[in-house]
Amino acid sequence: MSSHPLDAATELVALIGHPVRHSLSPAIVNAAFREMGLDWAFVVCDVAPGRGGDAIRGAAALGLRGLSVTMPHKDVAAATVDLLSDAATALGAVNCVAIADQSMVGHNTDGTGFVASLEAETDRSVAGEVCAVLGAGGAARSIIRALADAGAREVLVVNRTEATGLAAAAVAPGVARLSSAPELGSAALVVNATSVGMAGSSDSEQRAAVPIDVALLADDALVADIVYFPRRTALLVAAESRGLETLGGLGMLVHQAAAAVEIWTGQEAPVEVMAASAEAALATRR
Ligand code: ATR
Repeated sequence: MSSHPLDAATELVALIGHPVRHSLSPAIVNAAFREMGLDWAFVVCDVAPGRGGDAIRGAAALGLRGLSVTMPHKDVAAATVDLLSDAATALGAVNCVAIADQSMVGHNTDGTGFVASLEAETDRSVAGEVCAVLGAGGAARSIIRALADAGAREVLVVNRTEATGLAAAAVAPGVARLSSAPELGSAALVVNATSVGMAGSSDSEQRAAVPIDVALLADDALVADIVYFPRRTALLVAAESRGLETLGGLGMLVHQAAAAVEIWTGQEAPVEVMAASAEAALATRR
């Protein structure tokens, strides 16, 4: 594995978001660039709320090759770029920008990253299945859309707030619909896309919480969590103790980054190397 020093020929890609200083993305993406032998570097820019549009236009002016975009700039990114992929259009949110000749194309690789992780790490397939998504935020919407695009028969959207649940289901018309916990027993795949279970700075109550009662789920359901810190959330622990197959959230992070690397470089991303660097970077976080 060769490593390039930064030099006058180095191509740059940046992550913009706020907050971003604990991001695992530099470790994951720079490992990919090194493995690919590219003189490219991925840097992190903490961009204040309200400055996302300026940052994106500035990135094009500076000749960056692309951007990763995270909260709170995904919506303004969709409004700022010159062209949107179909998924980014439906979601009104962009997490990856490709820049070429001053022209910016916006993509959304979050949901496709989830589906790619599911297909790489389990022997499940989404096609023809009833899937359920817990939550209705940006991550949930992206997954709802990707599950529908991957051929899910139905996507049940279960959310604490009905109005946002309805709006989330509207990203995949004809496939997704608002649902509720008692219906979860019909789902082959249940994805937690709420923030419940995430380790906050000092929020042990949030960390121990589960968004649903796993007793409601079918015996052969797979339970996935997009939360990756902790690696095994309280939901996954509960599902495992009921004998259900589980999938953690780190793979989604890796696969959405792999899709972004492929969009920026036009070359196949080294997913295994990226996954190993994600594991290593996360291990330093305890
Ligand atoms: P992101 O953009 O990262 O997906 P978000 O937009 O803040 O995050 O969305 C968080 C999701 O988690 C929402 O669906 C939220 O439910 P509401 O729409 O009712 O707010 C859900 N969520 C957060 N905390 C929750 C909790 N304690 N119980 C149930 N759902 C929760």
